[in-house]
Amino acid sequence: MEREHRLLVNGREHRVTTDPDRPLLDVLREDLELSGARYGCGEGECGACTVLIEGRATRTCITPVSDAQARAITTIEGLAQGDTLHPVQQAFLDEQALQCGYCIPGQILRAVDLLSAGGPPSRESIVAAMSEHICRCCNYPRILAAVEHAAGLAPATPQTGAES
Ligand code: FES
Ligand code: FES
Repeated sequence: MEREHRLLVNGREHRVTTDPDRPLLDVLREDLELSGARYGCGEGECGACTVLIEGRATRTCITPVSDAQARAITTIEGLAQGDTLHPVQQAFLDEQALQCGYCIPGQILRAVDLLSAGGPPSRESIVAAMSEHICRCCNYPRILAAVEHAAGLAPATPQTGAES
């Protein structure tokens, strides 16, 4: 049975009446017209649908909308401050880490979560976190370089096989 849900997305409150088991991804994309979270696998495997819920990277294809009620949700559309990109977004641009871009919102939000944990992460922890996300363009070297850049680490990732 449908019921009303109070969603706090990018600092705005929305009321959405829908099935409580409906994936948050569908509500964001179809009801709120926030298309930055992408549908990839629909099974929690690829990371394309990632947003932040209370600051933690969360896969919305497997998150019922009822689980997200009254919790702060940040999508890629809400990450920049006005005209100023978030430092992770800027690092992805600086390192030319976008090819088709399909996976990038989820990759960026996963990196934001990782880098907000306090203290610079190790390269190993960056690789471990980002390896949970699939890039169909296989742009992994530049994505890792972007996260290392955002973390303040010197580049160490070879960037072979990617366009310059
Ligand atoms: S679409 Fe959600 S993890 Fe792949
Ligand atoms: S940049 Fe194309 S899927 Fe990752």
